[in-house]
Amino acid sequence: VTSERATVDFDHYSKEFATAPRETWDSMMSKCPVAWSDHHGGFWVISDYDGVSTVSRDVETYASRNDQDPESIYRGVAIPNGSVRFVPVETDPPEFYGYRRLLTPFFSPGSVERRKPRIQEIADALIDQVIESGQIDLVEDFAGVLPAILTLELLGIPISEWQKYARPMHAFIYTPSDAPERDQVVQEFLGITTALVDVIEQRKKEREDDFVSFLIDAKIDGQLLGDEMILGICMVVVGGGVDTTTAATSQALNYLSQNPIARQRLIDEPELMASANEEFLRFFTPVQTIGRTASRDVELKGQHISRGDRVMIAWAGANQDESEFPRPHDLQLDRSPNRHSAFGLGIHRCIGSSLARTQMSIMIRTVLDRLPDYVVDTEAARPYTSIGQINGWISIPAAFTPGKQLNTGSI
Ligand code: HEM
Repeated sequence: VTSERATVDFDHYSKEFATAPRETWDSMMSKCPVAWSDHHGGFWVISDYDGVSTVSRDVETYASRNDQDPESIYRGVAIPNGSVRFVPVETDPPEFYGYRRLLTPFFSPGSVERRKPRIQEIADALIDQVIESGQIDLVEDFAGVLPAILTLELLGIPISEWQKYARPMHAFIYTPSDAPERDQVVQEFLGITTALVDVIEQRKKEREDDFVSFLIDAKIDGQLLGDEMILGICMVVVGGGVDTTTAATSQALNYLSQNPIARQRLIDEPELMASANEEFLRFFTPVQTIGRTASRDVELKGQHISRGDRVMIAWAGANQDESEFPRPHDLQLDRSPNRHSAFGLGIHRCIGSSLARTQMSIMIRTVLDRLPDYVVDTEAARPYTSIGQINGWISIPAAFTPGKQLNTGSI
């Protein structure tokens, strides 16, 4: 039996949502976990664990593909739809499997393990730059920088000019489209594309041990990928991996400053790091939402979803659903079980999850080791003014007792 359409006045880009995301999800989940919003051309919002789990696993009904064709119903995973097609995120089976299989070895736990010493080296070099001053911006000097440098290196972009790329990678996400500095930020971000095109050309002449060289020789069904696809995949690694990891780490470091008991516990019981990481991911859910398109008419929790309707999966809603997470608004460093959806669920589940977890643990651990008494200036700290998809911080200034440089390596 289909009841009347449940509607909700929800805009993920609004100031109201950025100010109170938790309250918004609680209210939607309790009143109408499947509800229609008229914003951005109209879309369904699925906000409880059960609904999110159903939709993300039923890839035949809820499609990810982005045809980039105004005639097609398939408009990818961004609501409103984006101008670039991200691969493999915006593909469906069977095409999807070829790309996913190709990329998996590069992001395997073993391959991430081999990068650990380098991640630690970058973390320590960044802290060395500020440790004698007693002042740090946890985002701009640290959590916003390490994932960017690591990603540039992974791709093979020479990082001697890392400042040129690191900040724009972060600023591209948080600078609103109507901000005066938007054009500048976009230009700098596009500089990454230009640098990548150069790298692709160079690696074609001479291979190196990097992701671009790997993609140049990679084949799917006997076919080489082609320049456009190589660039597209690299941009997914930039777009999917950098600001998410920055947001997750910034949220955790900010929380630990404001909760000294939790911080001390993590210092005293380092073995808690793994479960604490999962709880930070659940509690803050850096990627709050993602989109799909209904490929057929379907009933979900008494609501009629029509073929062609846009559907938003609220990972963040699912992650605070009481039926899956007892006392969801308590951050419990040792929460178990913790089957959170911060990395997504189903076949598109984040391919970079090992790399993200490793970067997060190393960054958090390094701050706790080297600046154990850091205190965030909560008045000066600035969260994203609009969440959209990513929930993070622009700037988190903090003070601490100055220490000594380690000089164990350089960026
Ligand atoms: C804390 C950090 C991260 C979070 C919260 C996160 C979150 C997510 C989520 C929710 C999805 C699912 C998308 C969907 O269902 O449509 C996803 C997919 C993906 N992520 Fe991540 N991610 C993180 C870090 C990374 C990193 C470090 C990389 C790569 C270097 C990466 C690359 C990707 C890619 C390529 C996909 C698409 C996978 C596919 O379609 O099969 N992510 N991520």
